[in-house]
Amino acid sequence: MPEETSPQIADVPWRFAASAQESERKRIARDLHDVLGQNVVAMLLGLNRIRSLVAGNEPALASIRELELIATEMSDRVHYLTLELRPSSLDELGLVPSIEAFVEHWTQRFAIAADFHSTVGEPLKLDKLVQSMVYRIAQEALTNVAKHSKATHVDVIIEMHEGEFVLLVEDNGVGFDVESVMSDLDPEKRLGILGMTERANMAGGFLKLDSEKSEGTTVILRIPKRTHE
Ligand SMILES: Nc1ncnc2c1ncn2[C@@H]1O[C@H](COP(=O)(O)OP(=O)(O)O)[C@@H](O)[C@H]1O
Ligand SMILES: [Mg+2]
Repeated sequence: MPEETSPQIADVPWRFAASAQESERKRIARDLHDVLGQNVVAMLLGLNRIRSLVAGNEPALASIRELELIATEMSDRVHYLTLELRPSSLDELGLVPSIEAFVEHWTQRFAIAADFHSTVGEPLKLDKLVQSMVYRIAQEALTNVAKHSKATHVDVIIEMHEGEFVLLVEDNGVGFDVESVMSDLDPEKRLGILGMTERANMAGGFLKLDSEKSEGTTVILRIPKRTHE
């Protein structure tokens, strides 16, 4: 986007839709956590009570163990979904610790090693809504690593260079032909890369994909200084 036509963050109409979406996500995350999360805990307590009633009944005890495993998995899943939807830390702690927490959960969930580096201190000089966009981009980039890359390692790096915000997600996986995938993106089916690009633009920045077959993939988000001063 040429400098002279660059919109002021506060004026652009996407703000309304984007912030409505963020508050909706926040509401769903809270419901998920409060309602589903509590129900799973109640289920685990109930199973524990039944255990003492069926002492000595091995088939019943085996069923209880099975149900406990399912309930525990549900509880983990609810926790991860809540984080995916809208971590409360984004409001409370800020962007960098939230991405770091997401990377921690992600690495455990997908068993892919991850290193997180940030040279950026909080509070970050980035518009709140822009921070949400950055968080979503980091999430999608990591989801793609888990889904497509077969990587064994990923680096997530956050830097600020003379006021320019930079996020890098670099994997050592199989890589892909960016040009042919980009020319074939169907907005009905493939929301990932298009969504990341759109969010980067909404945040006043741009997204670049560096990838080559068997060389791994790097997703680079840059938000120049002028858009978040
Ligand atoms: N980190 C990655 N490693 C390998 N391939 C990738 C990676 N990220 C994206 N891709 C390729 O780009 C395609 C498009 O990604 P995306 O737009 O997120 O859609 P989706 O994830 O739904 O397939 C993927 O299907 C995959 O072939
Ligand atoms: Mg994707």
